[in-house]
Amino acid sequence: MPVPTVEWKNNRLKVIDQSVLPHRLRFICCNSVKSVWDIIREMKIRGAPLLGVAAAYGVYLGVRNSKKNLFKDLERTIKYLSTSRPTARNLFWALEGMKKIAYAHRKEPAGKIKKILLEEAERILEEDKEICRKIGKFGKHLIKNNDRILTHCNAGGLATADYGTALGVIFTSHREKKKIRVYVDETRPVLQGARLTTWELMREGIDTTLICDNTAAHLMAKGEIDKVIVGADRIAKNGDTANKIGTYNLALLAHYHEIPFYVAAPTSTIDVRIKSGKDITIEERGADEVRKIGNTYIAPKRVKVLNPAFDVTPNRFITAIVTEKGILHKPFARSIKKVI
Ligand code: MRU
Repeated sequence: MPVPTVEWKNNRLKVIDQSVLPHRLRFICCNSVKSVWDIIREMKIRGAPLLGVAAAYGVYLGVRNSKKNLFKDLERTIKYLSTSRPTARNLFWALEGMKKIAYAHRKEPAGKIKKILLEEAERILEEDKEICRKIGKFGKHLIKNNDRILTHCNAGGLATADYGTALGVIFTSHREKKKIRVYVDETRPVLQGARLTTWELMREGIDTTLICDNTAAHLMAKGEIDKVIVGADRIAKNGDTANKIGTYNLALLAHYHEIPFYVAAPTSTIDVRIKSGKDITIEERGADEVRKIGNTYIAPKRVKVLNPAFDVTPNRFITAIVTEKGILHKPFARSIKKVI
């Protein structure tokens, strides 16, 4: 079974510390908004939908001890959490949702509003589980028996409340007895593919092969990849998609080799206020992520580094987007409009 990544337990947010996987399964409990901010920033939790769930609980944690001015504390908490990481739409989507529900009940006593906020975070968590399963159900129709699928980064149970988006499609197909082989890009620099995706797939008994990030073209040229499926961090109104750095490379390669390239994501990842990928903010992360692997420097300690965490795949290189409301086809501007 995929692992439960996140839960509300004993009045605290309990999550898997993804930074120590696959060698240790360790949990972190957060009982303050600062601790939620820290685990997001330090990537102890990551993946767009999971960041949305955590941010929702972070809002509750930020106001639960509020004594005098609940709405001032709410605004401050939301502003603070929105500085944790900039690219994943789901984080901002959840913050906006929490704010909206609080203001909708602004006439109620503070205690009641706090309770409503906790219930809303719980609802977002449960909804994400359902959404991932729906994505799996729609997406499984794209997967054929004996398919060899390439994925990048981690869009699995660890990146969501559980089950995953791109991996949700793979899990559903596997559970329905389709024989599939999955190639997993290691995904430098944080190695979400090597550390997390392989771990999740192998726990499900799926035929899993880890490859270096620069191997895809070779495999595609040999005819060994039938399709590519990845998650998304933010999808613009026209379908341009930001996802883990290296995704765009794969999309170009898939296009050249005439291999379908699928994105799987909840509609909460779609940002209709953003017209095209050009307007998506791409997070720049620290130099040591690239200079080091684990605790070991693999490059001169003072070498200049460029470390964008995401890239944008233009919509024309995406075959279809799998959402919980169905499979979206081109032109994405039109199909997205129908589901949002
Ligand atoms: O930097 P990360 O690990 O948070 O990046 C995650 C990804 O790029 C995932 O592919 C994306 O969030 C989709 S997760 C269902």
